[in-house]
Amino acid sequence: PRGPLGDTLGRPLHDLRISVTDRCNFRCGYCMPKQVFDKHHQFLPHADLLSFEEITRLTRVFVALGVEKLRITGGEPTLRRGLESLIEMLAVLRTPDGRELDLTLTTNGSTLVKKAGALRAAGLKRLTVSLDGLDDAVFQRMNDVGFPVADVLDGIAAAQAAGLGPIKVNMVVQRGVNDDQILPMARHFRHSGVVLRFIEYMDVGATNGWRMDQVLPSRDVMQRIAAEFPLTPLSASAPGETAERWAYADGGGEVGFISSVTQAFCGDCNRARLSTEGRLYTCLFATRGHDLRGLLRGAEAVSDAQIAGAIAEVWGGRADRYSQLRGSGQAPTGERRVEMHYIGG
Ligand code: GTP
Ligand code: 5AD
Ligand code: SF4
Ligand code: SF4
Repeated sequence: PRGPLGDTLGRPLHDLRISVTDRCNFRCGYCMPKQVFDKHHQFLPHADLLSFEEITRLTRVFVALGVEKLRITGGEPTLRRGLESLIEMLAVLRTPDGRELDLTLTTNGSTLVKKAGALRAAGLKRLTVSLDGLDDAVFQRMNDVGFPVADVLDGIAAAQAAGLGPIKVNMVVQRGVNDDQILPMARHFRHSGVVLRFIEYMDVGATNGWRMDQVLPSRDVMQRIAAEFPLTPLSASAPGETAERWAYADGGGEVGFISSVTQAFCGDCNRARLSTEGRLYTCLFATRGHDLRGLLRGAEAVSDAQIAGAIAEVWGGRADRYSQLRGSGQAPTGERRVEMHYIGG
C-alpha cells in the first residue's frame, strides 16, 4: 500500500467533508443572509447534484487514499431526499486495513425529532448540531426564519434517545448579537453529555459582510466561562483537530473553542471538501474547486485508479493556509470565495 498522501506543507489527507445540498431552511445572517438568498436565488438543479452512487464511488477512492473521517454537511443535509440511503452506503466502507470510518453529520437540528431514529438505523454514529443561543428572541433573529429553540433542543434529545452520541453543539459567537448567550449555553449543556463548542465568527464566503469587530476572541469567551466554572485543559484527541478542548474542573463535561480567526489551525489542516456538484476544494476559503463530476460523467469511462490519480495530484499541489495568512495580514483578496452553504462547515 502507498504511504500517506501529503500536500506541499506535508499535511496528510485525513477528513472528507461532503456537502449533499446547497439548500437550507434557515437563513443565518453569517451564512445565507436573507437579502441575498431570497426567493430569486437559484439553487442547483437536481441533475447537477452528485448522485448517492457518485458520492459513494468518490468516497471509496478517497478512503483508499487515506481518508478515515467523513462528515456529511450542506446546506442542511437532512433536507436531501433519501439521505438515509447515502448513510447506509457510506457506513459499510472500511479503511484499507479493515477499520470502520468515523462517519458523522452536521445539522441545524430542525428535522431531528422526525429523522434521528432513521439516521441512527442507517448507520450514523454521532452528529453535531448548530445552535446559537437559548433565548428565543436571539436565536430567531439569527436563524431569521422564526425557528424556535425548543424544537432544536427536542431534536438533540431525540438524537440522544436514538443512541447517537457523543453529540456536539456548535455555537457561532457574534459580538453584540449572541455573546450574551455564552453563559446560558454553558450552564445548559454542562452535565448533559453534550459537548458545547464556541466558534469564532469567520469571514467565509462573500455575502455575510464580516467585520473583525464582530468577532469575540475565544480567549474572551473562555474567560467568561472560567469566571463561573473553572476549566482545565485537555489534550487534543486527534491530530489536526479544529477545537481546543477544555474540561469543567467539577466534572461537568467538556467544552471546545474553535478559533480560526485568532489562532489559525492551518498548520495541520487535513480536511478536503467535496461540494454538492462534485468539486473538490482544499480549503474552506478557496476561490475555486477541481471538478471530479466531469470525470465520472465524461464520455469515456474512467477507472477508480484514474480518479485516485486526479485527487492525489490536487492534494499533492495543495498549499492553502488562508486563516494563517489572514492573521498576518496577507489574506488573498480579489477572487470571490466559495460560500459556506455550498461547501458546508
Ligand atoms: P469533530 O470535532 O470530529 O466533531 O469535527 P470537527 O472538529 O471537524 O468539527 P465540525 O465539523 O463540527 O466543525 C466545526 C466548525 O469548525 C465548522 O462548522 C467550521 O465553522 C469550523 N471549521 C471546520 N473545519 C475548518 C477548517 O478547516 N478551517 C476553518 N477555518 N474552519 C473550520
Ligand atoms: N463563521 C463561523 N461558523 C460558521 N458556520 C457557518 N457560517 C459560519 C461563519 N461565517 C457554521 C455554522 C455551523 C456550521 C455548518 O458552520 O454555525 O455550525
Ligand atoms: Fe443553514 Fe447552517 Fe447556513 Fe444556518 S449556518 S443558514 S443552518 S447551512
Ligand atoms: Fe484548512 Fe483552509 Fe481552514 Fe486553514 S483556512 S484550516 S487551510 S480549511
